[in-house]
Amino acid sequence: MTADEIRTIAVVGAGTMGSQIAYQVALSGYPVHLYSRSNERLTSAVGHCGKLLLKRVEKGKLEQTDCDAAMERVSTTTDLAEACGSADLVIKSVAEDRRLKRDMFSAISEVAPEHAILATNSSTMASSFFADCVRNPARLLNLHFFNPAMVMQLVEVVRGPHTAEDTVTTAMEFARRIGKTPVLVNKEAYGFVANRIAFIAMQEAFKLVEEGVVSMEDADLAVRNGLGWPMGMFELADLVGLDVTENILSQGHYQTGEERWRPTPILTDHVARGELGRKTGRGFYPSR
Ligand code: 3HC
Repeated sequence: MTADEIRTIAVVGAGTMGSQIAYQVALSGYPVHLYSRSNERLTSAVGHCGKLLLKRVEKGKLEQTDCDAAMERVSTTTDLAEACGSADLVIKSVAEDRRLKRDMFSAISEVAPEHAILATNSSTMASSFFADCVRNPARLLNLHFFNPAMVMQLVEVVRGPHTAEDTVTTAMEFARRIGKTPVLVNKEAYGFVANRIAFIAMQEAFKLVEEGVVSMEDADLAVRNGLGWPMGMFELADLVGLDVTENILSQGHYQTGEERWRPTPILTDHVARGELGRKTGRGFYPSR
């Protein structure tokens, strides 16, 4: 299938990532079916993304008519068959739970058209984990977006051993058509590329603070002012979510066996207290 043949998109999962992916795709002119099991989550996704788009209109970065058109292109549903039945590309963005993801892929594969490309936005699970759940693994791969998905340019296109060449080419072109910069990841290495670099750097920042070498605030200042990264590692963890960060690290430890991924107390203690970052109003820092 070519990128020209991708006309309708389904996004499965309306959390932080799924909802922004849906609206990014809609901004680029595609009709999108956004699926969640929960009506409340769908309402909240529409409300939150609507506000983000309105802000762009207020700042003069988006025409009101383009904002309205994008809002109209997203239809929401709690019916998976309705979401995926006419989709040429399904992007799944549900919680990082292997059993849940496998069940979702089996269900999606039953209701999506034979020709549809099935993509997972998972950061910790390569598409190989799901290859036996779908009818056509040649059409399966990872499309990995970054938070916030309407802002960050990168999409990692991760080739699995089962992924057909034309699926990879089409996914790369699709990412360009939705205004993103795709990077092709040729092997299913843990963390792919950007997370592999960022989360190991984050581990170093955590260790430096735990060892008393530097304060958290100064570690973040060093990264921002010395490396020119937009956020320090503690700020980044708060944005991503400390529970998500812990999961990425512990999956890294579990899947690679490498000690460098093992989450350390500075992180796990916050998670145990329910201080999960911006989403709970407090993580390493109180939310602004
Ligand atoms: N959702 C949507 N848009 C957001 C946003 C959010 N949560 N936060 C900020 N924005 C938008 C703002 O509206 C603004 O848009 P505009 O340019 O159209 O006006 C733009 O982003 C810049 O925001 P601000 O001016 O408020 O603030 P900054 O200039 O500090 O930028 C940032 C904020 C874009 C988040 C920037 O700090 C940044 O790039 N941080 C690094 C983020 C990062 O590394 N993300 C990757 C995390 S790892 C990951 O996602 C992988 C996954 O597997 C976990």
